[in-house]
Amino acid sequence: MDNRPIGFFDSGLGGLTCISHLMKTLPNERIIYFGDTARTPYGSKATSTIRGFSAQIADFLVQRNVKMIVIACNTVSSTSLEDLRERYPDIPVLGIIEPAAARVAEVWQETNSVGIIGTKVTIRSKTHERLIHRLNPRIPIHGMACPVLVPLIEEGIIEHDIMDLSIRYYLDHFLSYHKIDTLVLGCTHYPLIRTNIEKLYPHLSIINPSEEIVNSIETELLERDLLAETASHDNTYYASDLSENFINMINRIFDQSEFRVAFKNFDLDNCK
Ligand code: DGL
Repeated sequence: MDNRPIGFFDSGLGGLTCISHLMKTLPNERIIYFGDTARTPYGSKATSTIRGFSAQIADFLVQRNVKMIVIACNTVSSTSLEDLRERYPDIPVLGIIEPAAARVAEVWQETNSVGIIGTKVTIRSKTHERLIHRLNPRIPIHGMACPVLVPLIEEGIIEHDIMDLSIRYYLDHFLSYHKIDTLVLGCTHYPLIRTNIEKLYPHLSIINPSEEIVNSIETELLERDLLAETASHDNTYYASDLSENFINMINRIFDQSEFRVAFKNFDLDNCK
């Protein structure tokens, strides 16, 4: 048993989509979340830049005595997972792509064609393909980078024609050309536009890694005897830029009546 918090981070607010699932499954766990809203999006940045940001944020979480680090970001998972595991050999570091790959391999049937949507960095890395093909090399995988979607989500432009048009710009041809029937939301921001995608393409079966990762967290905590013993709702959410959008989106993601959200401004200069 271990009542220390779990550290989560993302380039912005996308990783919060993992937390709402975690709180339902493991309500005793305490969370420290860091959203790098001042430097988002990561998805079109150089790998070396993303690795530098990630190490900085992981250090910040470790200084706050976390028992586990969850990379609630596909872009960071595809570029920095091994680095962070080497940096903190004594702390379990979980990436978000492995659980999604396991789920794809589990549900896949002969006729299915699988699409992955994500940031440029994630799609270019082909990490999903590599991890899925390690489990089953026969699964057809097609990737599509959708770089405009994250800035729109961070701006809170969701229930709007601009969002639907942007989704269609990337997906209309991609889905029909590859006959995709199974779509992996390969960016933790995308669960926030899941309803838009389902409305536009009702035939799709959607895999949401923000949900899938919760089972991996539970298994890892169990195996290492790190589950929290007593319930705590004392979560802390840090953002490098505590914008109005971030707060609005937190309200959208969480049912505020269930728990308390404490916001903290995070000064990047004090990070080291
Ligand atoms: N939420 C992040 C992910 O899962 C990416 C957003 C960004 O481009 O910063 O990849």
